[in-house]
Amino acid sequence: MCGIVGAVSERDVQGILLEGLRRLEYRGYDSAGMAVINGEPELQRAREVGKVAALAEAISSHPLSGHLGIAHTRWATHGEPSQLNAHPHMSGDHLAIVHNGIIENYQELRDELKAEGFEFTSQTDTEVVAHLIGKHYQQDGNLYSAVKTAITRLRGAYALAVVHADEPDHLVVCREGSPLVVGVGIGENFIASDQLALLPVTDRFMFLEEGDIADIRKDKIDIHDRDGNPVERAITRFEHGSDSADKGEYRHFMLKEIYEQPRVIKATMEGRITKTRVLEQALGTDAANLLENVRHVQIIACGTSFHAGMVARYWIEDLAGVPCSVEVASEFRYRKHVIQPDTLFLCISQSGETADTLAALRQAKKAGFRAAMAICNVPGSSLVRESDLVIMTQAGPEIGVASTKAFTTQLTALLIFTVALARHNGLSEEKEAEIVAALHQLPGQVSDVLALDAEIEDMSKAFMDKNHSLFLGRGSQYPVAMEGALKLKEISYIHAEAYPAGELKHGPLALVDSEMPVVTVAPNNALVEKLKSNLEEVRARGGELFVFADRAADVKPEDGVHVMQLPSVHEITAPIVYTVPLQLLSYHVAVLKGTDVDQPRNLAKSVTVE
Ligand code: G6P
Repeated sequence: MCGIVGAVSERDVQGILLEGLRRLEYRGYDSAGMAVINGEPELQRAREVGKVAALAEAISSHPLSGHLGIAHTRWATHGEPSQLNAHPHMSGDHLAIVHNGIIENYQELRDELKAEGFEFTSQTDTEVVAHLIGKHYQQDGNLYSAVKTAITRLRGAYALAVVHADEPDHLVVCREGSPLVVGVGIGENFIASDQLALLPVTDRFMFLEEGDIADIRKDKIDIHDRDGNPVERAITRFEHGSDSADKGEYRHFMLKEIYEQPRVIKATMEGRITKTRVLEQALGTDAANLLENVRHVQIIACGTSFHAGMVARYWIEDLAGVPCSVEVASEFRYRKHVIQPDTLFLCISQSGETADTLAALRQAKKAGFRAAMAICNVPGSSLVRESDLVIMTQAGPEIGVASTKAFTTQLTALLIFTVALARHNGLSEEKEAEIVAALHQLPGQVSDVLALDAEIEDMSKAFMDKNHSLFLGRGSQYPVAMEGALKLKEISYIHAEAYPAGELKHGPLALVDSEMPVVTVAPNNALVEKLKSNLEEVRARGGELFVFADRAADVKPEDGVHVMQLPSVHEITAPIVYTVPLQLLSYHVAVLKGTDVDQPRNLAKSVTVE
């Protein structure tokens, strides 16, 4: 989704803005642009369709320079990817704006502004905001108050950064529904959609709250809340190493992030479990109180995070005996739902800024529930700020659009949470100790799976020329199959569908032939014998099988049946371990096909608009 960077400094900001854009590339985008003011007053702008590299090249032949600037990566919503639709948008020659989000009433405002004589050069909702601010600037000659007045007319979601050549000492920013962070420097300040963009220039950040508007100068930051009161927002230090946006020795971020999993799973457990127990206090000082008397868990999420929720449902009902529903946020928010007062409302999100997930939470708040809990990877994100109880995953910044380490750390956090909840519902000390022991084994088991990388790479060759594939699993491995199918389709563009294996005869078997590889996750659990019958059904139709199983599952390799032997794992933690080979499989298929692994076409890392 769109990314914003801005800077005001004594030095030339062009390099800072370009590097910021490069670091926002992972969010997904189709054009990029920048506007810089050099104080004469003069505003220079450059915009290019395609990658930030194309913008950098355009700028190298016509350099922009100045001490104040804004820049943007655009992910098309209103109007195709084109130079005219790329940001920054301008009103007149002196005012420029970048925007992340969607203005829902843009058509009405556009008609109104057109009637008043404003001319539009793009199809975007953003240009409407530019002219609206431009109109108010004409009236009162002050950028801050022009922005303040203009945003009262906006409906929808936005993070905005605005500059004016006649006021070359500051930028005005505001947020409502889309993320925006202020980077605090010494004698210079910055803004961006996320902290990663600014790590080369600062590690100190202020997170703007919903409705905030801020005046950013090189030596001063003034913030007002939506009611116009001056407010201070706490400065936090970035917690992860500043090399997180670097690929290091790896060819792709996705591979680096797959390999980080043993470490980040361990980090997610650290301080939260002892040798034998889950430390409920570590989930929050009020955790015991909030988890007592929970009679229902409602999980809301999107994409990969939704799959984590699907796995958690098996755990919560099995270990805690508490009914659990899981729904994608975009469905939940648009239907009439019944939320019992003793419900724990649990949102799972890597970014904490997914528009549908946040909207579902806000909507559910109106209906009332016992507590809002979040499993999230980004400190200070909207989701974290709006929840009563938070478990932060310790995955560190995830750059690859296809989520990997965020998923396995979400599962780790979810299992810890489940044990805490189950303890309020009669989980025995022995069972708790057994699960905690299984958790301790996870990092080592994931490393063992990573050691199979070369074999999985070899296996991936069989998928290169295929157009379709089927993923099967039973029980808590069904969501693992769903996640495996999602990974493959996201980055290799091969159509991949996941089914609970028991549904095979109810439709998908009709599609099975030698051109349709069937991937199966088959740890040795109570359902393995049933799963083996499903494998026979596939084999009998000439389907080629790729089975991930442990030794005890006893699936025999034969002609058309490829078996990858995984370490023996506890049934409860098996979904975490079995996810990893499917990530590697998709990765290698995508590399063989030559697709853009880290930034697959049409997809965005953080979906901050509907
Ligand atoms: C996008 C990303 C996915 C992610 C989903 C939900 O589709 O490409 O990787 O799973 O959004 O995002 P969230 O940040 O809420 O987990």
